Formats: sequence, structure tokens, C-alpha cells
Amino acid sequence: MTTELATETPAWWTRAVVYQIYPRSFADSNGDGIGDLGGIRAKLDHLAELGVDVIWLSPIYRSPQADNGYDISDYEDIDPLFGTLAEFDQLLAEVHERGMKLVMDLVVNHTSDEHPWFVESRSSRDNPKRDWYIWRDPVDAHEPNGWTSAFSGPAWSLDTTTGQYYLHLFAAKQPDLNWQNPEVRGAVFAMMNRWLDRGVDGFRMDVINFIAKTESELVGESVHPSMGAQIHDYLQEMHREVFAGRDTELITVGEMPGVTVEDAALFTGAERNELDMVFQFEHVGLDHSDAGKFDNLPFDLVALKTSLARWQTGLASSGWNSLYFGNHDQPRSVSRFGDDRRYRYESATLLATILHLHRGTPYIYQGDEIGMTNANFESIEQYKDIESLNHFAEVVGAGAEPATVLEQMAFRSRDNARTPVQWTPGPHAGFTTAEPWIHVNSNASTINVQTDRAAGDRSIFDFYRRLIGVRHELPVVALGEFALLEPEHPALYAFTRTLGGDRLLVLGNWSNERLRLPEGLADDPGTRLIGNYPEWHEAVLEPWEARVYRRSERAGAEPVA
Ligand code: NOJ
Repeated sequence: MTTELATETPAWWTRAVVYQIYPRSFADSNGDGIGDLGGIRAKLDHLAELGVDVIWLSPIYRSPQADNGYDISDYEDIDPLFGTLAEFDQLLAEVHERGMKLVMDLVVNHTSDEHPWFVESRSSRDNPKRDWYIWRDPVDAHEPNGWTSAFSGPAWSLDTTTGQYYLHLFAAKQPDLNWQNPEVRGAVFAMMNRWLDRGVDGFRMDVINFIAKTESELVGESVHPSMGAQIHDYLQEMHREVFAGRDTELITVGEMPGVTVEDAALFTGAERNELDMVFQFEHVGLDHSDAGKFDNLPFDLVALKTSLARWQTGLASSGWNSLYFGNHDQPRSVSRFGDDRRYRYESATLLATILHLHRGTPYIYQGDEIGMTNANFESIEQYKDIESLNHFAEVVGAGAEPATVLEQMAFRSRDNARTPVQWTPGPHAGFTTAEPWIHVNSNASTINVQTDRAAGDRSIFDFYRRLIGVRHELPVVALGEFALLEPEHPALYAFTRTLGGDRLLVLGNWSNERLRLPEGLADDPGTRLIGNYPEWHEAVLEPWEARVYRRSERAGAEPVA
């Protein structure tokens, strides 16, 4: 037990589970093939029955959709694709009525190039909004430095009207805002305040560590921006201007590629007034080679355990972890880490058990609660994601074999997580009545919500529901101290969580082979709290079996699930 949490009432989000909705792929209510707010409203009971506490919506603001809404042209309106502000208010009220909270995506490292701020900024060198973005003169008739965009090509584009380059760490249609300008910060904070006044319960902040760029980096030779030192000042200023006085009911999570555990302790330390938690990337980068994310390395369980355990320890006395195995930028977790063919139920539920039993706030990505798999795309025409399409064009243009690149993309592309949620075995998986904007996975007739929820003791949804119930019920799940066991074992994921006299022993067999437990590991383990096999043998774990035991010195510690 950490001193910090022992002396203070733990924040509500230590017991909470967050569910991420990627609105374009969730549910379509108006028959245009694209998910929308009406679709979300129609499915709120699905989420309430699952037991989630918070819904995070990927961006629904007005946007040219160059990056599916992560390119915003109006922060204060809803894109007509998704609905209207009035419908948003209705959705928010219906979420609150069910006792859940709603978190918005906040994308303020960059805007769309169609945002009025950028339209003005690019219009002339002396426009009052010129300095709202990052403009630099050419150096030797080239880009100011060698930074590359996350979506291929240089991170600078030349604007011929004024003869200067502007910075875009993502697509050319996503120019980076200049956070050094206090007017920019003021405008962003005012916008955030208006959303909170409207009733939203917090923000997931897109690549928020990228907002700080130092001048020496901008004109220097570095290959990629590191995190400028002002990031802590910006986040503390944001806290003062936006969250102070109302933060206890809210939740803030900052997406931070490249963040170290030492940085994260600063970002999330309770006394520092920056963020509640961050999304770190270390564990989802372990299977990327130095050549980039599309060059897939074999999965290494020991490396994963080592990495996550470092984060557990690093944020034990100060700070807080967010826990995720998948989201709209990552492959489907059961395809990446599990066996999505022979042991789909077992491996999906094992992944859920391991994740949700770590210390931190777990995030469920839409469809993971029924074990949705990678997309099974075979041709480039099926892909829609700007990152994947640009990558394909770049490397095939440079001579790579298209079939090889498609194979890598079938494993790694972000579109794997963006196919429509499979609700029923019917046409278009019950997602829409029209042609969906992206192909439905060909396995939808067998993998869908309706079939899963009718699967009795093999329902993944029901397993998640019970796991969430355990977190809500037992303080040891939320707050217990974490200790990794058998760190070098290549297939066994084992750890304990301890709070006072309460101890959980979590065991998972991350493999297709039966596994005999190391001598002494599970002596006197207590009662089984939850597991994914109906019957079990104490000394053995079946393929992808996950089991959680509880031993409590307190009277009446009965299994709760
Ligand atoms: C991170 C988001 O999660 C991703 O989807 C997006 O493309 C980039 N940031 C740029 O906004």
C-alpha cells in the first residue's frame, strides 16, 4: 500500500473501467454506413450491462475526416456525419442517467488545415494568427529540419503563398499549433471549459506530450521531436485554467508516445496537478523493429511482463497507470497476443484477466468484449487508414513487394481495429442497413454480440462483466500492491496483488500448451475468484487458462464472481 493512497481517499477512477468508442465504426442509426451518435444512444444499455463506468468517445467534432476526425476544423460543433449538438446533449444526459460518465477526445497538438485559425494563419506572414502555428523559413531551399511525419514523408510542408514551411507531425492536413503562443493556450482552455460546462466528464488528450517543442529542436538536426521541457508548465497551466475546483469528478488521460516511467510519475503525481494518468507505449512497441511499426517482431512474453512490471513499480508510490492492450491505433489484442482461431474465447478472457488485475485503470476497446479479431483484409482497396495507405504507397513506390507489405499490414494496420462492431449474425453485422464505410470482418456471422451473449459460460462479454464486478467490489483489485512472480517463465504470467490481509494470486498460461505450475507457486492459494475454465486442476493450467485466487484474513471473504 502506498503512503499516498493510504492517507488519502483514493480517486474514484482507481475503481473505474473505461470503454472506448470509435464512433464511425460503433453503430449506424441513419443508414449512411457510418456510425453516429444515434447508434451510440441505441447501444448504451449494452455498455451499462457490461458495467463500465466511463465512455471515451474518439473525436466527433466537425472535421474533413482526413484522419477520421483527428483533424478538427471546429472544436465546438459535432460533425454532421455523427449528428448535432442537440443530439450530443441527449446522449450525454442518457449516459448520466445510467450512472456512467462521458469523456471527449481532445486533439490540440494540431488542428485541421481547414480550421479557420489555420486558414487565417496561412493567409499572410503578418496575419494576427500567423504565430498560432509553427512557420519556418526554408533552409538551403529545403525543410527546416529532418523531422518526418508519423504518416510518411517530411513533417514540413511548403506553403507557396508565403514561401514558408509549416510543421505537421502527422498529415499535411494536420498543422501543429504553436503552444508557445499564450493566445493559443487561452483559446484551447476556453474551449475545454465550455465542454466541461456542457457536462462532459473529462478528456483523453491526443499526443499531448507533443505540444511542447523547443526552438533549439525546431531548427536543430534532431531526427524527431523529443518532449520539450515546457510540457509540465503547459499541463499545470491547463489544470489551473480548466480543472481546478472541479477535478475530483473528472478524469484526464494524456496519450504520450515515448513517455518514460520517470516522466509518467511526474505527469500523474497527485500533488503536481497535471494529469490523472497517461497512455504509455512501451508495451505496445515491443514487437516493432527499429525499421518501424510495420516490421513485425515475434511476441516475447518475458519482455511484456518485464515492461509492465516496471510501470507497476515505477508508479506504485506516486502516480497512476492506465492499462490497455488495444485501441483504434493498435491491432486487435486477441489476434496480436492471443490465438484468435483455436483458443479465441480462452485467450481473449486471459488477456482481459491479466490486464484488469494489474494496478491501474483498465480501458476496453469496442469489440474486445466479444473477442473481435483483426480485419482479415487481403487487398489494398479494403484499407481506409491514412497511415496504412501512405505507408503502402511509400514502400511499394520504393520497390517493396506489395504482397509482403500487405502481409505486414494484415497484422499491424490500424484498420484492424476499425472494422464495424459486429452486433448480429445478420447483414453488415447489424452495424448498418447500408454499405458500411469499411468492410465488415468476414467472421461476423460467428463472432458478434448476439451470439456471444447467448454463449453461456463461453461468453466473453459475460467474463468481462464479472471482471469489472470484481474491481468494483474488491479494493485489492483497485489498490493492492503488485508483485510479479516467475519473471523469466516464457509462458506463465503470474503475479500477486496485496492489500492489508487480502491477497490475490493471478495465474495465466500464455500459450497453446498445458503448463505445470512451478513447485510451491500456488500452495494454499485460497479460493478461486474467477477463471476461464469451468473445471480446473490446482497444479496445472490448460492452454490460455487464467485463474485468480483470493486469500483473505478477513471473515466472509467469499468468491464474488
Ligand atoms: C493519436 C490518435 O490516437 C491517432 O488515431 C491519430 O491519428 C494521431 N494521434 C493524430 O491525431
